[in-house]
This record gives sequence, structure tokens and C-alpha cells, in this order.
Amino acid sequence: MSKRLKIGIIGSGGIAKAHVAAYRKLPFVDIVAVADVIPGKARQFVDSEQLTEAAAYDSHLELLAQPIDGVSICTPNVSHHRTTVDALRAGKQVLLEKPMSVTFEEALEMTQAARETGNMLTIGFQPRYDPNMKLLQEIVQSGRLGKVYYAETGGGRRRGMPGGTFISKKLAGAGAMADIGCYSLDMALNAMGYPRPLTVSAFTSNHFGTNPKYHGEASKFEVEDFGTAMVRFENDLVLNFKISWAMHMDSLGATMFLGTDAGLKITSAGSGPWSGVWDGSIGSMTMFHDEYGGHTQTAIPLIEHRLNLFDEKVRDFAEAVQGGRPAPIPGEQILIQQAIIDGVLRSAEARREVAIELP
Ligand SMILES: NC(=O)c1ccc[n+]([C@@H]2O[C@H](COP(=O)([O-])OP(=O)(O)OC[C@H]3O[C@@H](n4cnc5c(N)ncnc54)[C@H](O)[C@@H]3O)[C@@H](O)[C@H]2O)c1
Repeated sequence: MSKRLKIGIIGSGGIAKAHVAAYRKLPFVDIVAVADVIPGKARQFVDSEQLTEAAAYDSHLELLAQPIDGVSICTPNVSHHRTTVDALRAGKQVLLEKPMSVTFEEALEMTQAARETGNMLTIGFQPRYDPNMKLLQEIVQSGRLGKVYYAETGGGRRRGMPGGTFISKKLAGAGAMADIGCYSLDMALNAMGYPRPLTVSAFTSNHFGTNPKYHGEASKFEVEDFGTAMVRFENDLVLNFKISWAMHMDSLGATMFLGTDAGLKITSAGSGPWSGVWDGSIGSMTMFHDEYGGHTQTAIPLIEHRLNLFDEKVRDFAEAVQGGRPAPIPGEQILIQQAIIDGVLRSAEARREVAIELP
């Protein structure tokens, strides 16, 4: 019989509950510890979630000193770096919530820690587990589109700005570009096999967030609510990436891939003020191509499924730890996204194109 897994949860807020629910469905996993930096909060969480076997700690370092195989890191973005590096160096396998980090330098240090220790760092992008995301990747990488030379991704909410830690530069790092942009970037980059970025030219603004007419915390709003960027990659490929948390427009358009033989258009699912940006589910997929001398388009049938994508990501992590498999969504891959977002912020500030330096 294979070994039971001992799992710890670092950060006992909202998303930690989804991790607990997912681990509970895995018969080979025991949640043995929970830690939160607010004294007593982990204890409350253990009690309210009825984790009778779990110990509660007021520091992630105390948790990491225990004989635990893997941890889910469910802290706010600003704490991802410290807790992840400490966990990897303590010999734990890590499932880290998105986005990876606040800065590129942090992400770099995190991937270095994973490489040096040989421990796993996987980033929790659950939309990857949608079979339609896999289908999209399969189509783009099959060569059916020919050479892909242009992609466009992102989208916009007409009105959908968060508050609290999300609008603090120090705590969130970036605004809309990182918060919802990380999902859009992952969709496009994953489909194209995470090409290597070279330069970025970007513009960002925050006309809505800083206006009390539109945001209740306008005086505290420090990040961008809109951004657009042209990212240049190796092999003559460019990506137009645009995101808004708020705008006077219904849509910023679809995600698309232009290839020499065919084009592929993806629309987001969902409706309402917080939709209109690709942040998780595929609404439609259409291929544009020429057949028998004429233009035609084919609606790609979407795969119907009842998967709980969050459960899938937690299961994949746990099975990877148990089976000694590599990270399902490696930090080294998501580092590329962080480099792009970092480049976006630098370029917007400098008002010119900047180079993206990757190790
Ligand atoms: N994948 C998803 O669908 C999804 C959804 C929501 C949130 N998230 C991500 O999950 C993370 C947490 O979000 P949340 O909504 O649960 O936040 P939250 O504020 O509800 O909970 C975070 C908890 O972490 C604790 N904490 C902070 N620093 C800590 C440290 N150093 N050690 C231990 N505990 C610490 C806080 O006290 C708090 O209890 C964020 O990075 C967010 O982007 C992902």
C-alpha cells in the first residue's frame, strides 16, 4: 500500500477552506497542521473545519518544523515568497496559490529554492484542469494554425474593481494586470508552450480606481485598473495583452491566435459586471480557415464536463507528491508570467519599451 501523505495548510483564510475540502476527498491524505500569522486564527480554523487530527500553529515556521510531506500556501500574495522559500528549504513540497509572487525578484528566488532543494513548487492555476484548456493547447500546438505569429488575450470588466489588499502596491504588487491578467496570460502562454519573452511596451492607468465616484477606497488605490501591453517573443511572435477592472466599454474583445494557416478565437464564459475577461472558463472556440477556395469558420465543440477544477488541481498536486512526479504547473514556467508583468510595470513607468531579462 502506498504511503499516506501528511499535508499542512499555511494561511487559514477564505481559499484555505477550498483546499481543505479538496484534500478531504483524497483517501490517502491527512491534513495534520494549519498555521496562520494571526494568533489563534489557525486554532479557530481547525475547530470550525473539524480537523480533529490537525495541530494549529501561529507561525508557518513552527508548522514547517513538523514531519509533513507537502503544504498548501494560502496566504495573501505579499507572503507567498517568504512562506514558499521557507517551506522548500524545510524539505516540503509546495502547492502555492496564484499569483506566484508580488515581484519578479521574489519569483526568481522561489524557483531557485525549488531547484536547489529538489522540492516541488507548483502554482495553483485551476483553469488548466478544464479539458477545454487542454483542447485549446492541443489545437495551437498541433500545427493546424500553421506558424502562430500573433496572439491577443485578456479582456475587460465594465466595472469590477476589488478593494483591500488588492489595491495596495506593497501588498499586491500590481492591479488588474496581475489579478485577472495572470489567468489570461496563462491561457495564452500555455497554449503556445510558454515562449520566451524578449521585450514589452506597456501603458497602464487608474482613472477609475482613484476616482471616488467609482471606488469606495479611491484614496488608497495605488495600482493599475487598466493596462495594455505589446509583448515580443522569440521566433517572431507577439502578444497583445490588455486588461481592465473598469472602463466605459462593453468588451475588450476575444482571445485570439493568428496563424499562417488558420486563426482561433476564444470567448470567455459567464456574464455580469465581473465577467468579460478571461479568468477561467471558455465560452466558445472558433477556428477561421480557408477551405475549397473560400473563407470558412468552424465552431469547435466544447467538451462538457462536471469536473471541480479546484479539486483537480489539489488532487494532481497530492498525487504528484505521492508518486514523486514533477510539479504539474512548475514555478519555473510561471516565472515567465511574472517577468512579463514586471516588464509591463517597468515599461509603463518609463513610458518606453523595456527588455525582459530571464536567467
Ligand atoms: N485559485 C483561486 O481561485 C483563488 C481564489 C481566491 C484567492 N486566491 C489566492 O489565495 C491567496 C489567499 O487568498 P484568501 O482570499 O484566502 O485571503 P485571506 O485574507 O482570506 O486569507 C489569508 C490568510 O493568510 C494569513 N497569513 C498572512 N500571512 C501569513 C503568514 N506569513 N503565515 C501564515 N498565515 C499568514 C492571514 O492572516 C489570513 O488568515 C491569495 O494569494 C489569492 O490570490 C486564489
